[in-house]
Amino acid sequence: MISPDKIDAVKNANDIAEVIGGYLTLKRTGANFKAPCPFHQEKTPSFVVSPEKQIYRCFGCGEGGNVFTFVQRMENFSFVEAVKHLAKRAGIEIEESRPDPNFSEKESLLGANRETMNYFHEKFKASEKAKIYAKERGIDDATVEDFKIGYAPGDVSVSVYLKSKGISEDIMAKAGIAGHGNSGAYDMFRERFMFPIFNLYNDIIGFGGRVFDDSLPKYINSKETPVYIKGRNLYNLNNARKNASDGTIIIVEGYMDCVTVYAAGIKNTAATLGTALTPDQAKLLKRYAERVAIMYDMDDAGRAGAIRAGDNLFSEGLEAAVVSFEEVKDPDDYIKKFGVDALRGKIKSAQPFIEYKLDYLAKQGDINNAYYKEKVIKEMAELIEKTESPVVRDNAVKIISKKLFVGYDVVARYFKVKNGLLAKPEPGHDFDDTLAMKNRSIDEAERRIVSMALNALGTENEVVILKHIQERRELQEMKYDDFKNTIYAELMVKIKTYFKAGEKNILKHIEMDYIDNDEINRIISELLVQKPVEGAAKKKVHTADLMQEITDYVTTIVQKSKTVPEMAEISQKILQAESEKNAGLLRELQEQKKKLQKRMHNIEE
Ligand code: CTP
Ligand code: MN
Repeated sequence: MISPDKIDAVKNANDIAEVIGGYLTLKRTGANFKAPCPFHQEKTPSFVVSPEKQIYRCFGCGEGGNVFTFVQRMENFSFVEAVKHLAKRAGIEIEESRPDPNFSEKESLLGANRETMNYFHEKFKASEKAKIYAKERGIDDATVEDFKIGYAPGDVSVSVYLKSKGISEDIMAKAGIAGHGNSGAYDMFRERFMFPIFNLYNDIIGFGGRVFDDSLPKYINSKETPVYIKGRNLYNLNNARKNASDGTIIIVEGYMDCVTVYAAGIKNTAATLGTALTPDQAKLLKRYAERVAIMYDMDDAGRAGAIRAGDNLFSEGLEAAVVSFEEVKDPDDYIKKFGVDALRGKIKSAQPFIEYKLDYLAKQGDINNAYYKEKVIKEMAELIEKTESPVVRDNAVKIISKKLFVGYDVVARYFKVKNGLLAKPEPGHDFDDTLAMKNRSIDEAERRIVSMALNALGTENEVVILKHIQERRELQEMKYDDFKNTIYAELMVKIKTYFKAGEKNILKHIEMDYIDNDEINRIISELLVQKPVEGAAKKKVHTADLMQEITDYVTTIVQKSKTVPEMAEISQKILQAESEKNAGLLRELQEQKKKLQKRMHNIEE
């Protein structure tokens, strides 16, 4: 293990602008530098490097982090490899201290996987059989290279090779590359066409291997290991995210579809790894895409899988759509039969998931039967309620109402009032939107408070700002860590702990605590580096203004957390009064609602 002090020394010796400047042409804009983002396709540069904060962040795709993260991504390095690489660059000697057993096991597994990938890839190049198979499947040389396609000859081929590289049988077995036999290790993949699986750092985390003929099992896959969790990774996401220039990523069912579709020129495609698409995978996709097109097989399993995938994508707030085609089983077959342009057309005209699911459910029973119809509406409502968008919700209610011949109001009654969002908007009021905005602005206010706290660290304002945040929040009976967003809460607790301990360089401590935590690094960079305003001169910020801003945010949070549930309650009562046709009560409630609405607007001002 490399000691934290060493890691810190390496970080200090490698200025982020210099390191990134070695890869990209950076243009100075005020205190920062800008360049087109290397992690996604874009025309206008939204990738910002802050030398002052030693952080980078892309305002296009949301990537961000420190100098180590950057090198990991660019060079396909693990964290340790990135530290070693930057140490070398700065002429720092690295001696590893006593190894952390967990850490080193992961490194060993990744090392064994990489050796295996290289070995299979070399074998591929030497195998006529494998090359002919690739050709038959429409996989050209460039695609073989991009995916590091391999060939596993089998028996004890890779086991012997790994042994010669000093890799223990224990690690081979843990990695799922070899099994234990009476006469030692034997290969798990024998006579197979190999797909190595890369993660976002381009580590090799596992393999899938296909037979060359019709024998069974068709695929053999790596088991899960400490470095390979199937539900948290997607095959080819490392490439797909760079090619999602229009904000869309396509999801297919397996390696072969992913590779053949890529070879045909559709490169923004990733695949699940033999399991249904999980909420974790949906979260992962949300970082790189706005819209996900589900392109599964045209069989019952594929259609059911599309429903599960769509449910999870929609619930994460992604726009999901489903691609369908006739006559063939999967995208690979479709391209072979109709060509890639026809498939592009199918992707373009993918059906919005809400419609797809409604059609799917309608076909599962007798949709003319009122009881079944009600069941379908309930199931749809349960899903649609997960959206934060009143427009998406309203649209979905309209679709259900139209497709099932049920009145809008009737469909709307199956929606619970959540987050103050009403299913049924009142004529003349854009109430739903206002309420949704209020809720979002609680998160925004929280984000700004944490951002201001982090930005104050190490400046002359540090003490004043941290104390002010604490005081304002205590005044409202909020605890220091009382944030809806758990990562913000965690960061605030860290700040408080180091502040209390009298630490001088709090930001550095926090950064070191999370130095190899991809997710938190991204959030820290997001909070620390603000979007540069074009042409704006850098104004001097007055402490008093900052304090006022904090006061405002705290007030916003308090007021909005109170009014939102109040509004939801009144709205619920109004629905009730309407259905009971209680005109007197309705008038009274509407009066109350107006008052509340006014109050909310006042907060806004
Ligand atoms: N799969 C698996 N084990 C199997 C069959 C399938 O793990 N025995 C998984 C694999 O991840 C595979 C995906 O399901 O990539 C899709 O399988 P399938 O549709 O059967 O194969 P294709 O991708 O169409 O492959 P091919 O065109 O070569 O038949
Ligand atoms: Mn196929």
